[in-house]
Amino acid sequence: MTDAIFPSLELQDLLRCAEDAARAAGSHAFEQRHRRKEVVRATAHDVKLRLDLECQAIAENVIRSRFANHSIFGEESGGKADANAAVLWIIDPIDGTVNFHHGLPLWCCSVAALSGGKPIVGVVFAPELQECYTACRGGKALCNGKPISVSETRRIQDAIVATGIDRKTRDLSESTRFLKNLAIRVQRPRIMGSAALDICNVASGRADGYYESGIYLWDAAAGSVIVDRAGGRSEILWRGDDLQIAFLATNGHIHDELRQVVLSTQ
Ligand code: IPD
Ligand code: CA
Repeated sequence: MTDAIFPSLELQDLLRCAEDAARAAGSHAFEQRHRRKEVVRATAHDVKLRLDLECQAIAENVIRSRFANHSIFGEESGGKADANAAVLWIIDPIDGTVNFHHGLPLWCCSVAALSGGKPIVGVVFAPELQECYTACRGGKALCNGKPISVSETRRIQDAIVATGIDRKTRDLSESTRFLKNLAIRVQRPRIMGSAALDICNVASGRADGYYESGIYLWDAAAGSVIVDRAGGRSEILWRGDDLQIAFLATNGHIHDELRQVVLSTQ
C-alpha cells in the first residue's frame, strides 16, 4: 500500500529516524545500567528513574536533528501532546522501568510517529534481548531485519495472553477481575512488565494476545504498527484523559473472543 501523504520514501526516513532514536536511547540505558537505582520519584507501584529522563532527551535530540518542525511527546514530557500536529512523535524512553530498575532484561525503548492521530511508524528496541522490532504503514514487520508474523493459534483455550496490573491505583479490582476471567479461558496468562514488548511478542508469534487497561499511548503506539504489519489486529478499546487507553492486540484469530473476555469483565 502506498500512502498519499507519506510516500514510501518519506516513511522510510521516518522509520530510520525512529530506529536511530530508539537505539540511541536504549543503548544509553544499557551502558548506564549500573545507575538503575537512581530514582527521581517513587510511588507505591512505580518508579521514575534519572535514566528515563536522560533517554527521552537522547531520543528527542535524534528526532529534532532531522525533523525540526515535528511535534514530540514522551512519557517524561508533562503537559499535553499536540494532537493536531502533522507528525507527532511518541516516545517511551524505558518501557518496563520497574523491570530495568530491578535488573530484569525485559525492557525496551519505544518510538512511534503518528500522522492524523494514527501510528504510521513504530520501533521497539530491547537492548538486553538484542532485539529491534520495526514496521511502517504498508511495510513488513521485522525483528532484527527479518520478517515476523503472528501465531496460528486459533482457539483462545490454546493461547498465551499477556496483560498488566494497573500501577496507578491501589484499587486493583478491575485488573484482578480481568486476570481471573482470563486465566479461566486461556492456556496461560502472563504479566511480564513491558507493554511494548508484550505487543511485540504477539507480533512475533510468541504470545497470542495482549490486553491492558490504564496504559498510555506511548506504551502501545509503536507496538500497534508492528503487530498490525505482522498480520495481527490491534485496537484502542477505551480512551481517557492524558493519552490513557485500554489496548487490545492479538494474532487476529482470537481477537473477538478475547475482546468478549474484556467486555464481560467490565
Ligand atoms: C509500564 C509497563 C508495564 C505496564 C504499565 C506501564 P513503564 O510502562 O509497560 O508493562 O503494565 O502499565 O506503565 O512505566 O515501565 O514505562
Ligand atoms: Ca511504558
